[in-house]
Amino acid sequence: MKKTTILTVNSIEPEQEIIDQAASLIQNGQVVAFPTETVYGLGANAFDSDAVEKIFIAKGRPSNDPLIVHLADAMDLKKVAIQIPEMVVKLGEKFWPGPLTLVVPKARSIPSNVTAGLDTVAVRVPNHPVALALIRTSQTPIAAPSANKFSGVSPTNAQHVYQDLKNRISLILDGGSTSIGVESTVLDCTCWPPQVLRPGGISLEDLRAFLGDVGIYENSDNENKVVLSPGMLDKHYSPKARLYYFLSTDPNNYQTFFVNSIEKELKASQKIGVLTIQEDKDWFNQHYPDIELIILGERANLNQIASNLYAGLRVLDEKNVDCIFIHDFGTQGVGLAIRDRLIRAASQVIEI
Ligand code: TXA
Ligand code: MG
Repeated sequence: MKKTTILTVNSIEPEQEIIDQAASLIQNGQVVAFPTETVYGLGANAFDSDAVEKIFIAKGRPSNDPLIVHLADAMDLKKVAIQIPEMVVKLGEKFWPGPLTLVVPKARSIPSNVTAGLDTVAVRVPNHPVALALIRTSQTPIAAPSANKFSGVSPTNAQHVYQDLKNRISLILDGGSTSIGVESTVLDCTCWPPQVLRPGGISLEDLRAFLGDVGIYENSDNENKVVLSPGMLDKHYSPKARLYYFLSTDPNNYQTFFVNSIEKELKASQKIGVLTIQEDKDWFNQHYPDIELIILGERANLNQIASNLYAGLRVLDEKNVDCIFIHDFGTQGVGLAIRDRLIRAASQVIEI
């Protein structure tokens, strides 16, 4: 068992001596957790398959789930990818550093456990000074999934990483809370039109405005149609409590449905948590003063809601609620990513 150290690092101007410590672990084939602008990552030298193996072990992640390779500079793309389409160069110029991951044909330099045996590799340049300094100082691309236990809620601060991975990794760089709070958008660039495999921090609208045509992979196509057969859903991003996700085409009409379900759970003596918007705070406090209420942000500020979502789920788990209620936030901007995560995280999706 390893003792996990947490080192606080300045998230705007990271102290080089701290980055040096982390980079020397990376160079020695160890794993390090570090902040990005989306969520915390658990990184290892992307060229070292033994080091990469340690990521899978620490997370309990199955080996068929490929990792994202993080670069400090788009110029390094050719070290990890081949046959790079012109579209990828343009996307990199426009959106990197940033929360966009591009899937491209992989170079032989990337070991097969990084890509779970696929002949493509997912690559991004993160927009976070600590992540960039770590990659630069390590002098190698860093393969990193989110730094949580497999299938759990992704970490948006160093404490989240510690709760999940303590004594399984030796170092966490603590650069404070992440700003975006949901993972990067994953875009498959090996086809035309490119396909969004996972909605995330860069919106579908922005990608379409830039590229003209962008598809969305069927399993994440929650844009116009809703796939609701919970048994068949890919369970991911889940809190311990039962999560009830109220999906309505009219974001204003969920309250009556909340009430029915809250009453039912209260009768069964269940402890309830609710994640909702600022505008509903007074109503909940008045009608249900005993439930655990977390305000994610204002209705119109989806970015704020996204950045507080995972921390909110974790807080409610810590308070040992039996069930959590949350409603939909629409599909505009980062709303699509929120919907994708909630569908995967939910024990039950309730269509209203
Ligand atoms: O924001 C993020 O993307 C964070 C930070 C740490 O960068 N990382 C992250 O990694 O969310 P992870 O491992 O939790 O999710 C990676 C996603 C998975 O859905 C995986 O299936 C997809 O990227 N992916 C990786 N390589 C791929 C490939 N070659 N083809 C298709 N999908 C791939
Ligand atoms: Mg993940």
